[in-house]
Amino acid sequence: MSDDVTMDKIVSLSRRRGFVFPSSEIYGGMGSTFDYGHYGVLMKNNIRERWFEAMVRNRDDIVAIDSAVILHPRVWEASGHVAGFTDPLIDCRTCKLRFRADKLEDSSCGRKPSKHPGETPECDLTEPRRFNLMFETTVGALQEEGSRAYLRPETAQGIFINFKNVLQIARRKPPFGIAQIGKSFRNEITPGNFLFRVREFEQMEMEFFVPPDEAEKWYRYWIDERLNWYRRYGLRDSKLRVREHGPDERSHYSQGTSDIEYDYPIGWSELEGIANRGDFDLTQHAEHSTTKLEYVGQDGERYVPYVIEPAVSIERIMVALIVDAYDEEVVGERERTVLRLHPKMAPVTAAILPLIGKSDEMVAKARSLYEDLRRRHSVEYDDGGAIGRRYRRQDEIGTPWAFTVDEQTLQDDTVTVRDRDSLAQERIPIAGVRDWLEDALERDWKSPKGN
Ligand code: GAP
Repeated sequence: MSDDVTMDKIVSLSRRRGFVFPSSEIYGGMGSTFDYGHYGVLMKNNIRERWFEAMVRNRDDIVAIDSAVILHPRVWEASGHVAGFTDPLIDCRTCKLRFRADKLEDSSCGRKPSKHPGETPECDLTEPRRFNLMFETTVGALQEEGSRAYLRPETAQGIFINFKNVLQIARRKPPFGIAQIGKSFRNEITPGNFLFRVREFEQMEMEFFVPPDEAEKWYRYWIDERLNWYRRYGLRDSKLRVREHGPDERSHYSQGTSDIEYDYPIGWSELEGIANRGDFDLTQHAEHSTTKLEYVGQDGERYVPYVIEPAVSIERIMVALIVDAYDEEVVGERERTVLRLHPKMAPVTAAILPLIGKSDEMVAKARSLYEDLRRRHSVEYDDGGAIGRRYRRQDEIGTPWAFTVDEQTLQDDTVTVRDRDSLAQERIPIAGVRDWLEDALERDWKSPKGN
């Protein structure tokens, strides 16, 4: 097994197999912006589903919301984003590139890429100035004062401003949470590293409202829960760690933040953040909107809940899953590339293949199995080309199992099941395939790449 995974290999496979395309390619591309192809969409659906299942469907204490992308502009004044959601920006007058002043060591000089900005005598850097990362837009037909609005840079604020609605209508009592999945937008100065830092991404955030004296307990609880979710879906322990932010590093709202980091090809970097936001957001919105945002118990007890927030993007999870799963090995004389994805994350759960694509009988049996399975699972039928090539194609998109209809199927109604990772093949009755697949999907799964 190989652990020599570079971002270039991931980008190349994602493109070759239609997970992710550079956006607007026929117009010359739009830097750091991506479109998702069929397998990318299927994989994103799985990530979203697994998150929603763990955060909402399997719990009694969290409800869902789907708020607007463009909120009242005063939301972003109250949240502190208008004043403070900025990065320090510097320009180089020589190469005309822009850099984050706090990330110069991660950037390359426009003239001499082996050097960092400011390291060559020709570099002529401006003083840092604050650059707000929110995308501005105008609402309505006139571009006038008062029509300015923002694309949300996080989904969280759409949750805070609905706190009262949920408290009353969903009749909740802390501790309870509100979860949201949706696009967020940030005009990042230096996006890059494939999907890792993009300007448009899909966040999955959950705000968990708790009595203030329970905040620390729930903060620790959510760090463990989220870490275990990654382990459950196959990320290896040796590639995951939790890093607690120092007081200088925390966002303006945070009383404590821990990052779940993954060892990406670019080094250990934030996969998900878990923050104790205290009562900052509810207090700010209460002040700015003059609406009381607090919990009042039946016994008259009242307080502004503290908030614990696990927040992540589908993009960062997708990169981590693909990097963790990517493998190259030599089987017999041939090299194969395989994505050893968790079966519940793989875009296609099973391939259904007639051994001989020109055999009408095999095609008929395979198609009938396919029609049966597709009602419940993401399955793919393929009868084009040599069987070895079809297997390799499925390996590259991470399909855990292939059911093959062959000569013997025509005699005894059995098929072979090929396992993506071990390459073992077993024969099972066609009539038992559906149950076999259901059982296989429920088995505990560990990465064959080890820990
Ligand atoms: N509501 C809190 C919040 O938004 P954040 O640390 O700025 O906190 C949360 O973002 C998560 O969103 C990150 O851990 C990361 O998974 C994801 N994320 C942030 N910026 C991103 C970007 N430019 N591209 C892809 N994902 C991003």
